[in-house]
Amino acid sequence: MSLLQISTEDKSVKPSISFSPEAKAKFEKILTLYPPGTQAPLLPVLHLAQEEFGYLSLEVQEYIAELMNLPVTTVHEVVSFYTLFKKEPTGKYWVQVCTNLSCTLRGCEKIVDYISRKLGIQVGETTPDKKFTLTTVECLCACEMAPMMQINEDYYGYLTEARVDEILDNLK
Ligand code: FES
Repeated sequence: MSLLQISTEDKSVKPSISFSPEAKAKFEKILTLYPPGTQAPLLPVLHLAQEEFGYLSLEVQEYIAELMNLPVTTVHEVVSFYTLFKKEPTGKYWVQVCTNLSCTLRGCEKIVDYISRKLGIQVGETTPDKKFTLTTVECLCACEMAPMMQINEDYYGYLTEARVDEILDNLK
């Protein structure tokens, strides 16, 4: 479904998901921390939604937009911009290797290839035990540590094959 289709959908069709009572209480609490009627709480609300639903599907994004009275396109833009937000289900560890310029100049392609062979999956795939998902990502704004990657919320830089072994083996 394209973004255009989402934004022009019949708004009488409500998302079939909703926060649990506990998450709804956290949502209400977050709203009290920001100026009313603004988009300011969107980031913490999206983190809450990811915690609650596992990832931010289009349906979840639509639900959040409705809850916060925001255009779906606004929510989608924020979700798309931040690499911490998952648009699809991932394994327990989401390995995102930066393939932007600085990281490319410092050998990220070899790192991606090494991780792919080590985990036995291609970019975009998840290991059969659902432990690791491998993706590539645009600049993670830590170019000085190139080549680098992000695993869940942690950054790892100055990657070499030996360093990748050390990092991934510690997660196994
Ligand atoms: S180019 Fe890789 S972190 Fe910026």
